[in-house]
Amino acid sequence: MWLQKRLYSWWWGHRVPEAEAMDIEEEVAAYVDASAQRHLSGLDEGAARRAATFFGCCRCLIDLGCGPAAIPLSVADRVPGLRIVGVDLSLPMLLRARQEVNRRDKRDRLLLVCASCSALPFRDASFDGACSNSLLHHLDRPQLALRELSRVMSSGAAVFLRDLRRPPRFLLRIHLAIFGRCYRGRMRELFDASVRAAYTRKELGELVERLEGVRVILRGGAHLEVVRDAAG
Ligand SMILES: C[S@@+](CC[C@H](N)C(=O)[O-])C[C@H]1O[C@@H](n2cnc3c(N)ncnc32)[C@H](O)[C@@H]1O
Repeated sequence: MWLQKRLYSWWWGHRVPEAEAMDIEEEVAAYVDASAQRHLSGLDEGAARRAATFFGCCRCLIDLGCGPAAIPLSVADRVPGLRIVGVDLSLPMLLRARQEVNRRDKRDRLLLVCASCSALPFRDASFDGACSNSLLHHLDRPQLALRELSRVMSSGAAVFLRDLRRPPRFLLRIHLAIFGRCYRGRMRELFDASVRAAYTRKELGELVERLEGVRVILRGGAHLEVVRDAAG
């Protein structure tokens, strides 16, 4: 066991956690920057398309760490009638999200709430679907957020949690060069820091153990997805 652990950390290295909320204006600007978004929007569209296949039968979805709301807006377009609550700790991010929600005339479908996903202001079993993108690696205490998520989800709710993947440490530089090639300046720094803070497939699997029946899928080398179909 001891040797196994030593070998694991020799091969995979260690996470370097990053700050929780993205509320520094410069970071928010870099994140929503048009050039970053051109690349990100392609990734987000793919994620939203897959997410929509899980939420087709849902009525109320929670998106944790919704940021500028690109994914929930795209899911709303794909799943008519679905109501979505986007939660984020960062007011600057939510202001960007609100601009987009207004611009796309989705105020009746997407509600934005400023809160920590470790203390969600919702009743038990309020949602029959849950998603997040690039959130888990930001969390100081991910177990707390996952406990909250379990509480606010109804039993058998659909799940789609997506995050970056941390590669073996020997491959980190090449991984960053390949998957970060479209990012520049501050956005590139943010991407690199996020990958260093991300989980391996094994670590993420252990983290989400409490969410019964979920599967952890490797997606395209750079991402991991935690998914569960809606029951019934
Ligand atoms: C990398 S961004 C991803 C945003 C969005 N999901 C997307 O795909 O574009 C991570 C987001 O999670 C938010 N966040 C970090 N910790 C949080 C927490 N404890 N509760 C709620 N939101 C949090 C950050 O403020 C940021 O907007």
